Amino acid sequence: MSAPKKLFIKTYGCQMNVYDSERMAEALGGEGYVETKSPDDADMILLNTCHIREKAAEKVYSELGRFKGLKAEKPDLKIGVAGCVAQAEGQEIMRRQPLVDLVVGPQSYHRLPEMEAKAREGEKVLDTDFPEEDKFEKLKNRPKAKRGPTAFLTVQEGCDKFCAFCVVPYTRGAEVSRPADRILREAQDLVERGVREITLLGQNVNAYHGAGPNGDMTLAQLIWELDKVDGLERIRFTTSHPNDMQDDLIEAHGTCAKLMPYLHLPVQAGSDKILKRMNRAHTAESYLRLIERIRAARPDILISGDFIVGFPEETEADFQATLDLVEEVKYGTAYSFKYSTRPGTPAAERPQVDPAEADDRLQRLQALLTKQQREVQDSMVGRDVTVLFEKAGRFPGQMVGKSDYLHAVHVADCDRAIGDLARVRILSSGANSLAGALID
Ligand code: SAH
Ligand code: SF4
Ligand code: F3S
Repeated sequence: MSAPKKLFIKTYGCQMNVYDSERMAEALGGEGYVETKSPDDADMILLNTCHIREKAAEKVYSELGRFKGLKAEKPDLKIGVAGCVAQAEGQEIMRRQPLVDLVVGPQSYHRLPEMEAKAREGEKVLDTDFPEEDKFEKLKNRPKAKRGPTAFLTVQEGCDKFCAFCVVPYTRGAEVSRPADRILREAQDLVERGVREITLLGQNVNAYHGAGPNGDMTLAQLIWELDKVDGLERIRFTTSHPNDMQDDLIEAHGTCAKLMPYLHLPVQAGSDKILKRMNRAHTAESYLRLIERIRAARPDILISGDFIVGFPEETEADFQATLDLVEEVKYGTAYSFKYSTRPGTPAAERPQVDPAEADDRLQRLQALLTKQQREVQDSMVGRDVTVLFEKAGRFPGQMVGKSDYLHAVHVADCDRAIGDLARVRILSSGANSLAGALID
């Protein structure tokens, strides 16, 4: 038998790309590839890319440039670009960087084995179709290898919202939900391989409406089905849109013990004028009332958000409205970005904000968000939480895991194993994590 070929995958962007990279590795695993941690000994390099902001997309070209020497030494090395830049730029990638052999979009990567074979024969291959067939079904012959205690599971993909700044509806396509039975089968399989916590993924995950035994199911109904899976201890989901936060999902946060008290609910901005121009179809007020209802169902829930500053025509007063909203919500975590002009999106045509002004606003917003994040984290001290242990710590006997609220927790003198859950009393709060002790 010949030695296995080696595959190096580098993943950029969101959690869905992490999930997709695992699937691509499995698809090529069937062709005799094993993963390697270094590009230097790879027979194939795949960059799974992100197009969300200009910086993310440009990174791909500088990374590709770095493989020039490697390719010169090893003419058989194949280089592929997958993900959202592949979808958005297609052929242009091969024009800009001739060392690329293969370009595959996020909806076509189940065809990688055939594409790889063609690339081996010296062909340049490109597939950025949105095919009819179900890529997840084509990929279902998974190896049964053991895995870590947490996993992602894509349940919905694509987006029909068309926020004025965003490339996702173009790179991922229209919103599609996977049928519930296939998701449940995949969850069962993950649990058998050691997974204790599953994060359900979708660009608009709470708009989930996959086929179930009695018609379409809501995300809450899917969560209740997953709740019955023995051995699955925790369920999370991301990312939600405020307009799809249905009553049964809010209620589940109060009643489903496996559903973790954490919700990523991006608002993007606090000014109604800007929200309207962003095509968000909600107001600051409707978002705040929604948060109130969610907190009424689950008072201790940790709220996380995404923000864009410097959106076209954002004034200082508009920005102030974002700060006001943040003050009111009190976020446990948040991601904030300076607006990045994306070709082909409606906002790209609008008058842009002065970049220096946008930088200044981003700094001010981040200072406030960091302060809130720290306050929420500090408020955990003295409380008892459940921790799912994910790895050994830096010190002998120490273990590290995540609390229900997704805070990293370090536990000293810990006799538990990876994948165990334990009650932990929080003793102190550091820069980016908590420290606690096991409660007997
Ligand atoms: N589907 C998710 C997230 C999409 S991308 C949602 O609707 O929330 C993740 C985040 O990137 C977005 O929430 C937004 O805050 C940010 N983002 C998207 N496009 C951007 C752009 N053109 N410039 C800056 N940030 C952007
Ligand atoms: Fe992008 Fe808006 Fe869709 Fe989120 S909801 S993926 S920000 S278009
Ligand atoms: Fe990026 Fe595509 Fe995800 S653009 S954020 S990798 S959906």
